[in-house]
Amino acid sequence: MSERTLRVGVIGCGRIAQPHLSNLRSSPAASVVAVCDVRPEAAKRAAEPTSAEVFTDPVAMLEAVEMDVVYVLTPTPTHGELGAAVLSSGRHLMVEKPLAANLEDADRLVEAAERSGKVAAVGHQWRYLKGAERAREALDGSPLALVHAWYYWTWPLVGWIAERATGGGQMLDQGIHLLDLARHVAGEVNEATARYTLAARASQGFPNWDAQVLHGRFISGALLDVAVTYALFSQVSEQPTIDFIGNEVLVRVTPKWTEVHRAGETAIFYEAGNPMAELDKAFLSACLADDPLAVRSTVKDARNSLAVVMKANASAREA
Ligand SMILES: NC(=O)c1ccc[n+]([C@@H]2O[C@H](COP(=O)([O-])OP(=O)(O)OC[C@H]3O[C@@H](n4cnc5c(N)ncnc54)[C@H](O)[C@@H]3O)[C@@H](O)[C@H]2O)c1
Repeated sequence: MSERTLRVGVIGCGRIAQPHLSNLRSSPAASVVAVCDVRPEAAKRAAEPTSAEVFTDPVAMLEAVEMDVVYVLTPTPTHGELGAAVLSSGRHLMVEKPLAANLEDADRLVEAAERSGKVAAVGHQWRYLKGAERAREALDGSPLALVHAWYYWTWPLVGWIAERATGGGQMLDQGIHLLDLARHVAGEVNEATARYTLAARASQGFPNWDAQVLHGRFISGALLDVAVTYALFSQVSEQPTIDFIGNEVLVRVTPKWTEVHRAGETAIFYEAGNPMAELDKAFLSACLADDPLAVRSTVKDARNSLAVVMKANASAREA
């Protein structure tokens, strides 16, 4: 049993709220005391079967309820304003990825986190894959040549993600998991150019890019190559994958397994755990310890992953 129970509020009770709520409900460190969604039926459903208070206005919830921690699980364009409101109200913050839809909002969150001294973590759960740890161990001391990644997907089911204006494109919504893990393992990226296409699905009225390709370079000199596409069918079974290629070593990380290849030797590790549960656990421990640095996915790091996408977007626009 933990020594203290954190009182948790949740803003946004859609798809990604379900795993977080399930993690929070099974944690002895947390008690969900309030939930909020602009859709009252979603908030009511999220509160059941507990006695959590139900709100449709996040500001009213922040003002009315005594809470230690607030999760912001709303559409990306709302993260800046809601996250800053949480931090300036003196609560620890967990905000979903991507940190924000633009760098101004991201910087506002970094500043609010620094000013508040609170824990401010981002839903970059790939950092909590066992495969991420294996990759860092296997590549330790080995200079990298190339990080090569891909994410194959379909027409997104969630309407605001499918729309480019609100979802920001797949590189922002999903490719950012790959970019964030790339930075976690291989260090800072200081160059990024990109090309995006509307060539495949425009005739079906698809409101987003069909594919995006980003080329970059790490400060170390290693090259980065990330390709994402929404052009495939639903139930696409291909795993999002990131290859780290060093001096005579290949590490391939997917959400389900990780491979380490060396001359004459291949090792495969399967993920037994759940990275989102690990992320929530680490976040709650950091909140109990009042230690903003005890999480692997800080707002500052997430801001730097977002900056790579923004650089790519600027380059694609110039094309
Ligand atoms: N970490 C991951 O792997 C992962 C996976 C999926 C989604 N996400 C992220 O989670 C966030 C939410 O995505 P989702 O798929 O759950 O979307 P969703 O549309 O299913 O859920 C969002 C919910 O927020 C509510 N909402 C919107 N504006 C609000 C506001 N101002 N105040 C209160 N509630 C509001 C909506 O009514 C909806 O119920 C996004 O940032 C997304 O990128 C992360």
